Amino acid sequence: MERRAMCTRVGGWLMLLGLGTGLAITVISAQTPGSVALTVALPDEPTAGARLFVQKGCVRCHALGGDEVGMGPDLGRIHFPGTALDLAGSFWNHAPVMAEKMRESKIQQPTLDSGEMADLLAFLTAYRYYVAQVGGPANPVVGKSLFEQKGCSLCHGEAATFDKKGPSLTKYRGRMSAIVLAQTMWNHGSEMAQVMRASGVPWPTFAGGEMGDLLAYLQIGSGGTSTDRVYFEPGSPRRGQGLFTSKGCLQCHAIAGVGGHPGPDLGDRGRDLLGSVASIAGLMWNHSRPMEAESRRRGLARVTFSGQEMADIIAYLYFVNYANVRAVPAHGAQIFSQKCAVCHSAGGGPRVGPDLTAIQQLDDPIALFAAMWNHSSRMEQELRRRGLSWPRLAQGEAADLAAFLVARRPASQPAVR
Ligand code: HEC
Ligand code: HEC
Ligand code: HEC
Ligand code: HEC
Repeated sequence: MERRAMCTRVGGWLMLLGLGTGLAITVISAQTPGSVALTVALPDEPTAGARLFVQKGCVRCHALGGDEVGMGPDLGRIHFPGTALDLAGSFWNHAPVMAEKMRESKIQQPTLDSGEMADLLAFLTAYRYYVAQVGGPANPVVGKSLFEQKGCSLCHGEAATFDKKGPSLTKYRGRMSAIVLAQTMWNHGSEMAQVMRASGVPWPTFAGGEMGDLLAYLQIGSGGTSTDRVYFEPGSPRRGQGLFTSKGCLQCHAIAGVGGHPGPDLGDRGRDLLGSVASIAGLMWNHSRPMEAESRRRGLARVTFSGQEMADIIAYLYFVNYANVRAVPAHGAQIFSQKCAVCHSAGGGPRVGPDLTAIQQLDDPIALFAAMWNHSSRMEQELRRRGLSWPRLAQGEAADLAAFLVARRPASQPAVR
């Protein structure tokens, strides 16, 4: 009975959504019925969280891909494939165990404001990506055979000279990063394609980690740096989003239903775009011939990238899934009544805990999770007193819950169009 009333109300709120511009939520019609898109800001500088990771004491228990064993899991080895809210949910799920370890080690539980929470989530998502470790370390021996198999050696020679029909590639040794490789190959793609056609060499494509292996091969002989991790000016997903429009990508690709065709919707790629820099670059390269043909057909100018632009666009593609959060508020309503309603109301005034529609910055889903973290120890006490277990959130549930609460909050009445 109560469930039904709640669903009807959710239906009502949904009609209000998407009408105001300041709302954090818009209705996407083509998705699951009742599904909405939650706005999560794209990070400008995903490495900003690195400083916080130290300042907030996370580093005292968590390694980042190092050899040391911490009290908590090595966060550099976990691949977080979900959205920003899935990661926030996993952080919440582990909060009581973390808090207990902190008490044991006399570490004060750090508080996080929403900006800090956002920076930490972005950093943890980006970490593996920036050290180019996704998909395992690259193998220069495999790279050498790829260089031959894919026909590169026909025009660029052997490692000794790297010099034949194509220009020498030796100049890139030591400064060839995944970004530089992606940028130069993309920018020279047209000319290479012409020479390839003339020489009867088929257009090479790259799967999985192949581009990374090729890169490792191109780096050998560069004074022993081949085994070093490749760091570069990190791309900015937010700048990349701007480039996605200014370089014309949006004319052919939609992101979560918004944008053009005939390119595939890049907001629906799931895990495809969660690869290393080299694998995302490989994907763009693989499709660059049909993309260029389509551009010509439409009379669009050919697009080239500076190194920084390439870094930014790839960072954007990687982060597209992170920020592309879909949620079903009606499902969030159920989660709320099962897991939170013992202590909280959503619009009915305070109970043991505050009315969750009254908390500040509720428009920002990340702020909700920052507040949950900051108040987690009191909540745990209350749960324990009642003999209840910690309300864990499964994948997707953090977003559903946030969407429900955002929808419930007393909106400054949105303008009706
Ligand atoms: C006192 C030690 C300690 C501190 C400090 C700490 N953590 Fe943890 N963390 C843990 C432990 C232990 C776990 C595993 C908990 C469990 O098994 O439920 C964990 C789990 C996690 C997870 C979940 C990993 C997964 O498997 O999905 C994330 C994310 C995380 N911590 C992030 C952080 C961040 C960010 C900070 C700093 C704000 C931090 N932790 C501070 C001990 C700590
Ligand atoms: C059929 C000949 C041919 C093949 C095969 C070929 N290339 Fe090229 N490559 C060229 C030519 C010609 C250029 C110069 C294009 C230009 O002037 O813009 C070039 C340019 C490049 C550049 C930019 C060099 C510079 O001057 O900055 C890179 C990097 C590169 N190729 C890598 C590769 C890789 C990796 C492969 C294999 C997947 C490959 N090429 C296969 C002919 C070829
Ligand atoms: C003129 C239309 C057009 C433009 C402009 C365009 N693309 Fe594409 N793109 C396509 C088409 C068509 C495909 C599918 C090609 C194929 O079938 O191989 C594609 C495929 C892709 C893919 C592979 C997707 C997948 O999952 O298979 C990526 C990544 C991509 N484009 C990125 C970009 C980026 C980044 C830009 C802007 C620099 C861009 N595209 C500009 C038409 C375009
Ligand atoms: C057993 C009772 C209990 C349960 C269950 C519970 N909470 Fe709480 N919650 C509290 C109490 C008590 C506070 C106030 C804590 C304080 O003052 O530090 C609180 C505080 C909060 C705050 C901070 C509000 C503010 O003022 O910033 C948020 C957000 C929150 N809870 C969300 C949730 C969500 C979402 C759930 C369900 C997943 C939940 N809580 C489940 C008891 C609970």
